[in-house]
Amino acid sequence: KRLILIGPPGSGKGTQSPIIKDEYCLCHLATGDMLRAAVAAKTPLGIKVKEAMDKGELVSDDLVVGIIDEAMKKPSCQKGFILDGFPRTVVQAQKLDEMLAKQGSKIDKVLNFAIDDAILEERITGRWIHPPSGRTYHSKFAPPKVSGIDDVSGEPLIQRKDDTAEVLKSRLEAFHRQTEPVIDYYSKKGLVVQLPAEKPPKEVTTEVEKALS
Ligand code: AP5
Ligand code: ZN
Repeated sequence: KRLILIGPPGSGKGTQSPIIKDEYCLCHLATGDMLRAAVAAKTPLGIKVKEAMDKGELVSDDLVVGIIDEAMKKPSCQKGFILDGFPRTVVQAQKLDEMLAKQGSKIDKVLNFAIDDAILEERITGRWIHPPSGRTYHSKFAPPKVSGIDDVSGEPLIQRKDDTAEVLKSRLEAFHRQTEPVIDYYSKKGLVVQLPAEKPPKEVTTEVEKALS
C-alpha cells in the first residue's frame, strides 16, 4: 500500500502512523520527524530549515522533495509506505506523482484527518515526544506512566519548539492556504477518504482500518 496522511497539526497523523505501519508492514516517512532530526544534529540541511520550522512556516519544496526521493529508495519502502506530512503543497504532490510514475507505481489512498481547528491547541500544547522512538504522549489524553518519562526506555520526554499556541497559528494558516489544495488535488483523482479525527485514538484507528480494508 502507498498511503498519504493529510491533516492539520495535531490531527493525529503521527499517532496513527506507527499502528498502521506495523499492521501493514509499511515504512513510515514523516518529513517533520526527518527535518527535526536534521535540526537536532545541526547538519547543513538542519541549519537551513531551522528558522522556517521555528516560525511554523513550510520549508522549500525542493528540500523536502529531495528528502523523500532519497528515503523512498530504501529497501524497506519497496513494499509500500505511509507519507506523514508530505506532500504539503500542490507542487510537492505533482513531484511525488512524477517520482512514482518513473517507478511505474502510484498512490493508493489519501487519508484526510478532518478535524475542527478549535480542538488542536489543547492537543498541541499538551504533546510530549520521545524523539529516538517517535513515541508520542499527551499530558491529558495519553499520559506516560511517569510524567516526563518514556514508558519503554525510561528516557526523558521533550516538547517540540513549535508546539506553542502562537506558532500553531502560523502552522494552521500554512495548512489552510498551502495544504488544503492538496486534498482537492487528490479528491479529483478519487483517492481521498475522510476520517473523523476528533474521535478518541482507538476509534480513529478503527476508521483507518475500515478505510484500508
Ligand atoms: P510536522 O512534524 O509534519 O508537523 P505537523 O504537520 O504540524 O503535524 P503534527 O506532528 O503537529 O501533528 P500530528 O497530526 O502528527 O499529531 P500527533 O499525532 O502527534 O511538520 C513540522 C514542520 O516541518 C512544519 O511546520 C514545516 O516547517 C516542516 N515540514 C514538514 N514537512 C514539510 C513539507 N512536506 N513541506 C514543507 N515543510 C515541511 O498528535 C498530537 C497530540 O495529540 C499528541 O500529544 C497525541 O497524543 C494527541 N492525540 C493524537 N490523536 C488524538 C486523539 N484522537 N484524541 C486525543 N488526543 C490525540
Ligand atoms: Zn506529526
